[in-house]
Amino acid sequence: MDRPEIDLAGKAAFVTGGGGGIGRASALALAAAGADVAVVDVIPERCDEVCTAVRAMGRRALGIPGNVMDSAMVAEAVEAAAAEFGRLDLLVNNAGGVTWRAFGDLTEKNWRRHIDLNLVSNLAATSAAIPHMIAAGGGAIVNVTSIEASRAAPGYAVYAACKAGINNLTRTLAVELSEHGIRVNAIAPDFTLTPGTMGNYTGPVDESTWPDMGGERGEILRRRIPAGRAGIDHECGNLVAFLASPLASYITGTIIPVDGGTWASGGWIRSDSGKWVLPPEMPRQG
Ligand SMILES: NC(=O)c1ccc[n+]([C@@H]2O[C@H](COP(=O)([O-])OP(=O)(O)OC[C@H]3O[C@@H](n4cnc5c(N)ncnc54)[C@H](O)[C@@H]3O)[C@@H](O)[C@H]2O)c1
Repeated sequence: MDRPEIDLAGKAAFVTGGGGGIGRASALALAAAGADVAVVDVIPERCDEVCTAVRAMGRRALGIPGNVMDSAMVAEAVEAAAAEFGRLDLLVNNAGGVTWRAFGDLTEKNWRRHIDLNLVSNLAATSAAIPHMIAAGGGAIVNVTSIEASRAAPGYAVYAACKAGINNLTRTLAVELSEHGIRVNAIAPDFTLTPGTMGNYTGPVDESTWPDMGGERGEILRRRIPAGRAGIDHECGNLVAFLASPLASYITGTIIPVDGGTWASGGWIRSDSGKWVLPPEMPRQG
């Protein structure tokens, strides 16, 4: 038996929001596995940085600066990637984001921005990519959803609704596209260290500006996440590359948590003593 290997040689991939965080990590993991990679990102210098890193691995790269909330731009970007590489096999619908605010304080403009960013961008890229994947004889789509798709998410209502929509889109398209050899899966991260979660919203990714995640922040994560720490973007990127690859040839329609065990813990946290409790901790009888 051959040694199992994530092998994407000869494949071409398109990653939304691929300039930073989970999208960047996905682009680099796909390239490391052999794929040519196109990234679209609203920050041009992040596109350039990722393309340089992809080319340094000996792959072809295409950076497309643009805002995924513009569906026409997304469709054009997918066409540009397919033209550049002569094919398109893999799509990572990663771009998304959220601003914390109670639902009652949101306006219709806020709802629509969340929906455009998180859901419509996914529909636009998927719709444009499917004909190319059919022409290539099959493909793989990996959606980046969230743990918030599967639980109540106070302060993130519209975002969570979009992510829940993506979960079901993942299952539905897995079935609809199966006859074309296109697999559709999703990854569901919990708190992951990325430019977005670290407040690095503009310019190049610059980890020197990120807050210290030790001290009180580290202690909160240690208590809340069974793995005892935040996720790292490459832990998502590795799963994206696996799901995109032939190693996952019999996996479609799944939503896989990348969350250090948060989903499994279902609200249990580590207490001061290290014991697992449902907060607030009940005083023991006797
Ligand atoms: N980081 C987390 O803790 C976490 C947890 C669960 C789910 N997610 C999901 O993972 C995905 C990536 O999250 P992240 O934290 O890596 O993102 P991020 O905020 O760090 O941004 C990643 C990249 O996307 C680009 N981007 C943002 N808006 C864009 C737009 N409108 N058009 C084009 N590019 C845009 C940014 O410039 C950045 O380079 C999102 O869908 C997010 O909802 C993240």
